[in-house]
Amino acid sequence: MPIASASAKPWWYDAVIYQVYPRSYSDANGDGMGDLPGITARLDHLAELGVDAVWLSPFYRSPQADAGYDVADYRQVDPLFGTIDDFDALRTRARELGLRVIVDLVPNHTSDQHVWFQEALAAAPGSPARERYMFRPGLDGKVKGDGALPPNDWQSIFGGPAWTRVVEPDGTPGEWYLHIFASQQPDLNWHNPEVRTEFEAILRFWLDKGVDGFRVDVAHGLIKADGLPNWSAKVAMVEGSKTETAPAEEAPESPEAPPYFDQDGVHEIYREWHKVLAEYDGDRLLVAEAWVEPVARLMRYVRHNEMQQAFNFGYLTAGWDALRLSKSIDESLAASATVERPTTWVLSNHDSVRHTSRFGLKDPTTYPRGISAQEEQPDEALGLHRGRAASLLMFALPGSAYIYQGEELGLPEHTTLPAEFRQDPSFFRTKGKETGRDGCRVPLPWSPDEPGYGFSLPTPGTDGAATATTTTAAPAQSAAPATPWLPQPETFRKYAAQLQSGVVGSTLEMYRAALKARQEWALGKGILVWSPLHAPTAGVVSFTNGKLLVLANLGSTAVELPAEFTVFLPSDSAAVSGTVLNPNAAVWLLPKS
Ligand code: NOJ
Repeated sequence: MPIASASAKPWWYDAVIYQVYPRSYSDANGDGMGDLPGITARLDHLAELGVDAVWLSPFYRSPQADAGYDVADYRQVDPLFGTIDDFDALRTRARELGLRVIVDLVPNHTSDQHVWFQEALAAAPGSPARERYMFRPGLDGKVKGDGALPPNDWQSIFGGPAWTRVVEPDGTPGEWYLHIFASQQPDLNWHNPEVRTEFEAILRFWLDKGVDGFRVDVAHGLIKADGLPNWSAKVAMVEGSKTETAPAEEAPESPEAPPYFDQDGVHEIYREWHKVLAEYDGDRLLVAEAWVEPVARLMRYVRHNEMQQAFNFGYLTAGWDALRLSKSIDESLAASATVERPTTWVLSNHDSVRHTSRFGLKDPTTYPRGISAQEEQPDEALGLHRGRAASLLMFALPGSAYIYQGEELGLPEHTTLPAEFRQDPSFFRTKGKETGRDGCRVPLPWSPDEPGYGFSLPTPGTDGAATATTTTAAPAQSAAPATPWLPQPETFRKYAAQLQSGVVGSTLEMYRAALKARQEWALGKGILVWSPLHAPTAGVVSFTNGKLLVLANLGSTAVELPAEFTVFLPSDSAAVSGTVLNPNAAVWLLPKS
């Protein structure tokens, strides 16, 4: 059913959604760890930025084996981040500022500290408690004695085997449990009705708290192929992108899909969740984190009775390359049209090297799994030029766009983080072969001259400064804030929000101007038409969306600006010289008359 008119479209159709990584956005209690009161105190930054919604990465009770993606209690706030009252305060303040709130839901696995898993460990093989997870005997059927092999050859996405053997309550070596991620993240058995009922209750719990939607973690992983067949290849979260624009209903199976991802059975779960959300007013949102290809397979997650959005990782991995970007745009728009859902766009997130740094590499189309001091260091200035241009281009595209915190400051990846600070399980499970994701998770710089670049808000008793919020998170021991949980590189100083706010030409002001115009001109609800200037083989991407003409130069020679247009917004002060657009830049143009 076509969407009738612009005004009939739900809010998420063209929303700009800002990802807050709670550990690293803002710290209210001075313990060096971001928290919910810290986010609340700095929500006005997001309102001023002009985003529509905030997506909060997990803040639930968790032993933090995977930075909160290992949930021990889905209805509690971890004391690291505050209390449930702090969540309510955040939600209230967001509403006052006109911001919607989306929370992260982690249904593929729980923490090994979840009461269900603890019960499973204490129970016998074959018990109902074990049936909630994926317990299996060893390959040879011997559950006792040494040397048994795991049930199959699956590898964890974070490295090492995907199975861990337990010690049975009687002290003997016993069954194995599946964990597609770290061993502290046991996979749930989604064939078990109790699991389904529980997650519907969790959805309702947060919907009752007034959340506007959920980002669904590993949405493609909940159901595993019958019989758990061997699959020797290790699958990383990203494997480049393949495309296919057949209608979702006819999407072919990907011959390379592992038996633990993108199984048809997952869709039944989302059809049930769709119904749960439909019980609530106000167009609630489910957005799938599903690394699925080809794109027609991905569109199955956003059919009309399933989710509303899916992240466009094909776009994220296209890199700084005119041909790949234009192809991704074409294919994304064509694919989403088959299901009449908006396309989404994303350049960075908490699992990816920040796009400003990826685009500063010799090959700006690579997708490294972290960058360490021993590896090629990105050209920071070049990456920033390109990163700003890529963002400006993205904000002109129809559909919904995602921003990862710090992107609006032009923040680079921390590429020289010493190994002793690393926390990402993928670094440890691959024995350092994968650098991991810590470099994009470093606390934000707010002010240039404060300790931790102002990451920790002033608390009462420090220099007489008033606290910006009340906090129930456990107070730090001393009045001086602790150092941030991951150290910030010195280069972060110059990106501090305070140095950019109100400064014409700063990255922050470029983002604000772009989002304001995007909103005023309803670009998210618009239609992309490639312009006569579009020449991807020459590195030029150009399209119109309404009256706006976008020109991006991903090539190596300057491009003449069309005489009948005037510059509305350049990606930075070096973008335009006289009548040309320089390489590594983009510009928004308006007709002269
Ligand atoms: C995807 C999340 O984005 C990532 O951070 C996490 O490690 C895995 N899912 C496992 O939950």
